[in-house]
Amino acid sequence: MQAARIPSSDECSTYLATAIRAAEAAGTVLLDCAKSGFRIDYKAAINLVTDADRQAEECIVCTILSAHPSHRILAEERGQDGSTDSPYQWIIDPLDGTTNFAHGFPFYSVSIGLEYRGECIVGVVLDPVRRELFTGIVGEGAYLNGQRLYVSPIDTLERSLLVTGFAYNIRETADNNLDHFSRISLRAQAIRRTGSAALDLCYVASGRFDGYWEVKLSPWDMAAGIVMVREAGGVVSGFSTDHFSLYAQELVATNGRIHHQLLDAIHQRTDQGRPA
Ligand code: IPD
Ligand code: CA
Ligand code: CA
Repeated sequence: MQAARIPSSDECSTYLATAIRAAEAAGTVLLDCAKSGFRIDYKAAINLVTDADRQAEECIVCTILSAHPSHRILAEERGQDGSTDSPYQWIIDPLDGTTNFAHGFPFYSVSIGLEYRGECIVGVVLDPVRRELFTGIVGEGAYLNGQRLYVSPIDTLERSLLVTGFAYNIRETADNNLDHFSRISLRAQAIRRTGSAALDLCYVASGRFDGYWEVKLSPWDMAAGIVMVREAGGVVSGFSTDHFSLYAQELVATNGRIHHQLLDAIHQRTDQGRPA
């Protein structure tokens, strides 16, 4: 059997250019909707979706499929398009931070990742409000508006600024992250909850945060951001270090130096390995 061919650097650059075009177009849609108004629908009690989510997604999918018609798409609002057996799958969150957006809180993003045979090889996250474009290609580094990114040098949890989030089913399940949040609050320097997982990951990559965890993420929340964290020198895992899957919901992403300390805190272990 022939070994799978890894996409060349030139191919990855082409895919990155497509993702940037798509993210910029979607960013314009989001800013226009923020200005002109939009309709809000409810998927569940506290889970919103707006016209802006749908229009931005349409725009991203059109841009990608007109450049790469044989590729597969997994997008938050339309789900999976299983019509081809391409090894490429674009994983799209057209508006990460919908609740923020709907309330006029200016912290949200467009997130586009490209998965090739199960590995995320390209990521683009755009914060249209601040004009911050995060880009990454596997093996080639992560960048913010063209400036190379590196994770922070902080090496203790006590000195770390962490970030986390809560899923929309927070009221329906005990596995809602509130236990981790209250416990880790007493061990970290501080914790933030921004409302955009994709930007949380990019902020870990750029050293603005030292670590991030969440318990119920979807692949589109993480696909692009994990490329940024890894390429900036950070570490991405599930709640144990031996396995990470985009489809397993749990994510811990850090500068690497505090990774085990954050895992210990999540598992209620002390630094000496004893239960806290
Ligand atoms: C949400 C945000 C939030 C995270 C939630 C996600 P959405 O995505 O990323 O930060 O805590 O788990 O569902 O719904 O705004 O695209
Ligand atoms: Ca999301
Ligand atoms: Ca979304």
